[in-house]
Amino acid sequence: MPDLDTTLHLKMVRPKKKRRLLPRIFAAIRRELTSPNVYGLQWGDPDVVRPLRFIRDRYVLPYVKSEHMAVEIGPGGGRWTRYLLAFKKLYVVDYHAELLAELKKNFRDSRMEFIKNNGTDFPGIAERSIDYLFSFGVFVHLDAPIIETYLANMKMILKPGANAVIQYSDKTKIMAQLNESFSENTPEKMRTMVLNAGYTICEEDLTTMWHSSVIRFTV
Ligand SMILES: C[S@@+](CC[C@H](N)C(=O)[O-])C[C@H]1O[C@@H](n2cnc3c(N)ncnc32)[C@H](O)[C@@H]1O
Repeated sequence: MPDLDTTLHLKMVRPKKKRRLLPRIFAAIRRELTSPNVYGLQWGDPDVVRPLRFIRDRYVLPYVKSEHMAVEIGPGGGRWTRYLLAFKKLYVVDYHAELLAELKKNFRDSRMEFIKNNGTDFPGIAERSIDYLFSFGVFVHLDAPIIETYLANMKMILKPGANAVIQYSDKTKIMAQLNESFSENTPEKMRTMVLNAGYTICEEDLTTMWHSSVIRFTV
């Protein structure tokens, strides 16, 4: 804690040197022109937005291995898919064919397999074949019965020791309470669903995101 002699508050009240406007406009234009044209970046670019960067660096990149098989549920335009391309095989599973078509516009990697599901299943994915599963921006909208069915179906495709990372709605947080499209979920409810499905919880992140939380679990 700063003591009473601190200059902290005096420095803050001093007028800031005006930053020149033109370089800032050019930087913004350059950012816009060079940023990838991926649907979903309007919710924040994990390369740029600090909490998302943390999610990328802590829960995604360390698990990407060229000898492993992975699943992404609800890839949207590929905001996170970008980081998952080095897997030996990446199944991108989505309920909406239109979204898979959107994804295909930017991603045509031979290691990817596009799967249209019925909202909770994994058609065509072999039992006990998956090392890593990731989902962001999807479970935040799913109600408990759908989450429970997903967790049960996931159990069949995950290898023993696999890692699953799921971001979900956290209604203990004000930003989730204010968002009507977020489902009625909390860390306590999510923890119970994950444990009831027979998984072991490895870690929970209740602080990085303002409107949601993240859970990593294994079979
Ligand atoms: C809000 S977008 C998030 C996209 C991406 N994960 C991101 O973070 O940018 C939600 C995505 O989940 C898909 N989706 C919605 N319900 C789903 C379900 N039950 N199973 C699989 N995908 C689903 C949507 O079609 C869409 O692609």
